[in-house]
Amino acid sequence: MTSPDLQQRLQDLDTFIQNLMTCESRPVVGLTVSVVKDGQTIFAKGYGQRDLQTGQAVDNRTLFGVGSISKSFTSALLAVILGEREDVSWDTVLTDILGPSFRFRDRFRTEEATIRGLLAHKIALENPWYVAVIMGQDIDRS
Ligand SMILES: *[C@@H]1O[C@H](CO)[C@@H](O)[C@H](O)[C@H]1NC(C)=O
Repeated sequence: MTSPDLQQRLQDLDTFIQNLMTCESRPVVGLTVSVVKDGQTIFAKGYGQRDLQTGQAVDNRTLFGVGSISKSFTSALLAVILGEREDVSWDTVLTDILGPSFRFRDRFRTEEATIRGLLAHKIALENPWYVAVIMGQDIDRS
């Protein structure tokens, strides 16, 4: 399924991460790395601990609260999309993309919020929103 060269590269990646974990002067809580090739997960491994008090290890099924890291994925994908399209930009108002049924609690944010503003936290959403996301509480899409 994977070529010897790829196997070697995955082994090198594993060694690299293990070395990084030992370089930190502060304890690294933990991480997982997955490599997906042609739609198949060819490498998935956890490193470190998911709880420094209990010492429970991270494995390749450990779930993390993604929190603000999701903004880097979102902004990278948006950069690709915005580079391909001329009808939207970082400063396009969200309702121009999502339609008039998309609303914030108040009219000002609904009319003024842009992609740039959202990614830069300029929308000033109330605390319960982002705390719920950071803490991984069960919230549904709506
Ligand atoms: C996930 O971890 C298990 C246990 O270490 C291992 O057998 C399995 O190959 C890993 N999955 C992948 C896709 O690497």
